[in-house]
Amino acid sequence: MYLWGSHLEGLEEFTHEFNKSIDFDKILFEEDITGSLAHVEMLCKKGIITQEDFEIIASELKNILEEIKSKKLEIDLKEEDIHSFVENELTKRVGSVGKKLHTARSRNDQCALDLRLYSKKVLAEINKDLKNLIKAIISLAEENKNTIMPGFTHMQHAQVTSFAHYILAYGQMFKRDIERLNNSLLRIDENPLGSCALVTTSFDIDRFITSEILGFKNPTENSMDSVSDRDYVLEILFNNSLIMTHLSRLCEELIYFSSSEYNYIKFSGKFSTGSSIMPQKKNPDMAELIRGKSGRTFGDLITVFTILKGTPLAYNKDFQEDKEALFDSVKTTSSSLKIMRGIIESLELNKDKMRESAEKGFLNATDLADYLVLKGLAFREAYDLVGKIVNYAIEENLTLEEISLDVYKGFNKIFKEDLYNFIEIENSLKNRKVYGGPAEEAVTVQIENLKNYLNI
Ligand code: ARG
Repeated sequence: MYLWGSHLEGLEEFTHEFNKSIDFDKILFEEDITGSLAHVEMLCKKGIITQEDFEIIASELKNILEEIKSKKLEIDLKEEDIHSFVENELTKRVGSVGKKLHTARSRNDQCALDLRLYSKKVLAEINKDLKNLIKAIISLAEENKNTIMPGFTHMQHAQVTSFAHYILAYGQMFKRDIERLNNSLLRIDENPLGSCALVTTSFDIDRFITSEILGFKNPTENSMDSVSDRDYVLEILFNNSLIMTHLSRLCEELIYFSSSEYNYIKFSGKFSTGSSIMPQKKNPDMAELIRGKSGRTFGDLITVFTILKGTPLAYNKDFQEDKEALFDSVKTTSSSLKIMRGIIESLELNKDKMRESAEKGFLNATDLADYLVLKGLAFREAYDLVGKIVNYAIEENLTLEEISLDVYKGFNKIFKEDLYNFIEIENSLKNRKVYGGPAEEAVTVQIENLKNYLNI
């Protein structure tokens, strides 16, 4: 059924198919009906429709909502969009009273409202997903404060760290993601209803009433901006893209840490798959999928930027194209976060392998230089000397701990027996207790701060 009146001849079927959005905006049915309920309540309070009409419309809208939820009523995909479906269904049921619902309203403010209500809902969901993931990270960190592993720069062995310190780095990224969502909420949480097509209405409506009923902080400030603003969609798409970037980096590391070359970690069988031909294989498919799906969210962001950039004020049908990108990004991000939580909760660590690996690659070379500084050398001199000692160790196929004191003394008389204790891997970790560092007490502070942030 077409929405507009008899002055237009109506679209041919193929064009109608092209024009409509109901196939995807049908998921907004609850937001749409909630918005309509607030709208008619306000119209009644302001005396624009009668109490009797309000009651008829509101009670039938509630029936429609319940019936869609319980699957008693099927959304008619021949309609143009969810807004026209609800209005037409209402009028079918209550007759001409239903035609009063759209007084002082346009689909332009209606679809903006629905999208903002949806945005607030999914933001809360993603917020919860992030919190659950950080909780899983905290538990894993708590169990591994003294689990030694090599820290890398340029993917080369760099210095000693702990698994707790490593995984808590991701805790910080996801914490920033929560902060970003909360900040975006300040701009999402505004009510565009009452902007109508672009210049509000001649009826004496009250946008503060609908804002209060719908739980918005306030009405939007300018009606023309309100119906053409999709900045909040872009913010969500960007926030999601960054969450997916963090997840993707973590996936990349977990994938190679699980390879037989590293063998630091093992994915649970619940998050791995086999090969159809190679019986020995255990593949990290879920982590690879998250890494791959990050690309979808970047694409969604660019899609909406491109849709928006050339559109004049106020509403343009281009905006209808925002929804699929947003829905896809939200679904991808929320499900990826849930899967990552499961991966982290069931991750097995091969602590012996990480410890063994930390003994290779001269991770304690900086400690040896620091030792010399404590004995009185300037850091650059110490650095130079340790470089020579490392070269010697490479030639002799020795670790720094295996070089004899005599040889050390040959390099510089300053070396004493206590050097061995100083460069021991465990001590290398213990000595880094600077705020933010990997020593047990520093990592404990990081965990406590994260817990406080999450109120747990
Ligand atoms: N389905 C449309 C959308 O999602 C609703 C708004 C239609 N408004 C209009 N003037 N054609 O954007």
